[in-house]
Amino acid sequence: MSAPRTLVPVTPRTPSRPVGTVTRGTTNPNRLRRMDRWIAAAHGAALRRAADPVAVDLGYGAAPWTAVELLARLREAAPRARVVGIEIEPARVAAAKPYAREGLEFRHGGFEVPLESPPVLIRAANVLRQYDEDRVADVWRRLCGRLAPGGLLVEGTCDEIGRRHVWVALGPEGPRTVTFATRLGSLHTPSDLAERLPKALIHRNVPGEPVHAFLRDFDRAWAAAAPYASYGARQRWIRTVRALTADWPVVDGPARWRQGEVTVAWGALAPVGGIRD
Ligand SMILES: C[S@@+](CC[C@H](N)C(=O)[O-])C[C@H]1O[C@@H](n2cnc3c(N)ncnc32)[C@H](O)[C@@H]1O
Repeated sequence: MSAPRTLVPVTPRTPSRPVGTVTRGTTNPNRLRRMDRWIAAAHGAALRRAADPVAVDLGYGAAPWTAVELLARLREAAPRARVVGIEIEPARVAAAKPYAREGLEFRHGGFEVPLESPPVLIRAANVLRQYDEDRVADVWRRLCGRLAPGGLLVEGTCDEIGRRHVWVALGPEGPRTVTFATRLGSLHTPSDLAERLPKALIHRNVPGEPVHAFLRDFDRAWAAAAPYASYGARQRWIRTVRALTADWPVVDGPARWRQGEVTVAWGALAPVGGIRD
């Protein structure tokens, strides 16, 4: 198990051009519901406490749905929360502007995160997936360096309709946890989630790497819990995750497992030798 790497904060500055590259704008309504709900549960208190509870939906895509939904879900936990959607493709910003409303605005920008004050949350879903693996460390450093004290970066990937998700949560100091979240009714084996691993891990799902060992153990525990399937996939998942806790640092509990989630300490899944830099 390798130790979490500490990320060195980057001094914010305003570059003349947004940092990053325009990529495909694929998105879907309700696609990020699992991530939104986890953020509201895990980070709602921090947003409630913040003097200026700003959340960024970075790279919201060709339509502004995920930013609109993030605002609605965050406000259930933190009624003063605001969302700024930031997109590197100017036409997507223009297309989103008519959806701006109280608590929701859209800006042109990139990984420099063009805000006047540091956000309490940055969510980047399905953005880094389209970058090379060796960009991840630098982008994480930049984004973590933009967070307010106590802020959170949530960076991950999901399928087109949000049935399978994997994301990394990072604090200003660097990566903390990895969350696997799935619609249990459509799950064949836990390693189905491998295809949605975030960029930092997807190329590391090979023998000798911790994430590969974790998914192997997850599948074994799922197979051993097969008798619980008669009580439903939820009971089987809960049983499976409970078994995993014997060997892996699972950091959440049954209330989240019931949602088809499990969150594991980053240090247990981090690539051998750290993420490529
Ligand atoms: C696949 S879409 C994801 C849309 C939405 N987040 C979702 O998950 O449904 C990725 C979007 O990220 C944008 N993007 C890529 N790099 C970016 C960057 N550095 N800053 C802001 N947006 C970026 C792309 O232009 C694209 O619209």
